[in-house]
Amino acid sequence: MAALAACRTACDAPVAVLRAVADDMQSAMRVGLAADGQQLRMLPTFVTRLPSGAERGSWYALDLGGTNFRVLRAQLGEAAGEVTRVESCEVAIPAPLLRGRCAELFAFIAQRVVAFTGPEADGALGFTFSFACAQEGLDSGKLLVWTKGFALLDGPGLDVVHLLRTALYDAGSRMRVAVLANDTVGTLAAAHYADPAARVAVILGTGTNAAYLERCSRVAKWPLASSSDSVVINIEWGALAAPSLPRLAADQTVDEQSVNRGEQTFEKMIAGMYLGKIAALTLLQMDAESGELFTASQREALLGGGLSTPLLSQLDNAADSAQERSALASALGSAPSDAALAAAKEVCHLVTRRAARLAAAAIYAVLTHSDAASTIGGTPPIVAVDGGLFEHHAAFAATLREAVAELGANAVLRLTVDGSGIGAALLAAAAQVA
Ligand code: GLC
Repeated sequence: MAALAACRTACDAPVAVLRAVADDMQSAMRVGLAADGQQLRMLPTFVTRLPSGAERGSWYALDLGGTNFRVLRAQLGEAAGEVTRVESCEVAIPAPLLRGRCAELFAFIAQRVVAFTGPEADGALGFTFSFACAQEGLDSGKLLVWTKGFALLDGPGLDVVHLLRTALYDAGSRMRVAVLANDTVGTLAAAHYADPAARVAVILGTGTNAAYLERCSRVAKWPLASSSDSVVINIEWGALAAPSLPRLAADQTVDEQSVNRGEQTFEKMIAGMYLGKIAALTLLQMDAESGELFTASQREALLGGGLSTPLLSQLDNAADSAQERSALASALGSAPSDAALAAAKEVCHLVTRRAARLAAAAIYAVLTHSDAASTIGGTPPIVAVDGGLFEHHAAFAATLREAVAELGANAVLRLTVDGSGIGAALLAAAAQVA
């Protein structure tokens, strides 16, 4: 079958392909550090000091980056690098607010923040906002572009901290928005607070991206580069679109059906939001060739919902159990044939393999790009990783670790759960101390 053969070839992603991807990623990183508006945005975050472990007290954070947001209060302990208590609440954003204007979305969020903190609270709050923002300071940033399926009527060009401050004020809150942080930056802050060997943070979830500590002397485009030694850079690596990327016909269709056509090529090959769709489209291509893999209603189901990432992860293993058959049956609406189950398992495995190996190439590119990211007196650097794909998809995490080692990177990949929110609270604390 041509579709399966093409999928096997592209998803194998041998080490030579990974090196070519890493080279392309590094050239794009260099170009992005030199000038604004490049494919990789390489955004200076104004974070020049990561939390040291010495921060104390109780700090708030708001974490917005998906269809749910979280408000939390982190209590820092007396021992260095210790978070003793985290209280939080998670709120689902009503669907209509995701298609409306920012002011309405932020008004809803602010009300929930006040419900959590109480109207009297007047502490500092770190704002994790997991989209690309052009920052002019630690506590301001204009949204550049929505990603991950967000399609509000406005946003790009607006200062999201200003939006939040206005909404909090209108909701009667006295909270102070002290820091704006991408989720990668929050994760790096949380990981660094616990262990200063953390120099890179990666998100592998609904979307994908990374941040790392860069030497200021290498950030030619940043006017404040001379004022400190290093600064955290938000790469926005999901935007990479290099010829070396081993693409499938399904990638093209995923892109055409997305709300951000032509953007986030790398993210659309790797992130949890897209993998099930790539697998479903590849299976449909195989079905079109053989004409006998699925029934008409199963085809409809695949076209409509694709396959979920949890199902992808369940099917991606060597065993062939009754649970897998019934999980696929519930996604398809009826029992799959033996051939369909075998095809689904193989395709899920291949699509996961490609995603994990490409993510490894990107991690390798960051580690070898910057000595600030990699060397700390001989200790291997820690790459903090958060996101459901890494946390819950065992085959993905194993393949990623294997490929990082295969590329020869000397680094420890460490799961840092919930780092993005806690990290923003820590950055608010660190900003206070500075
Ligand atoms: C998308 C966003 C990026 C974020 C990533 C992970 O790529 O553009 O800012 O870090 O998703 O949530």
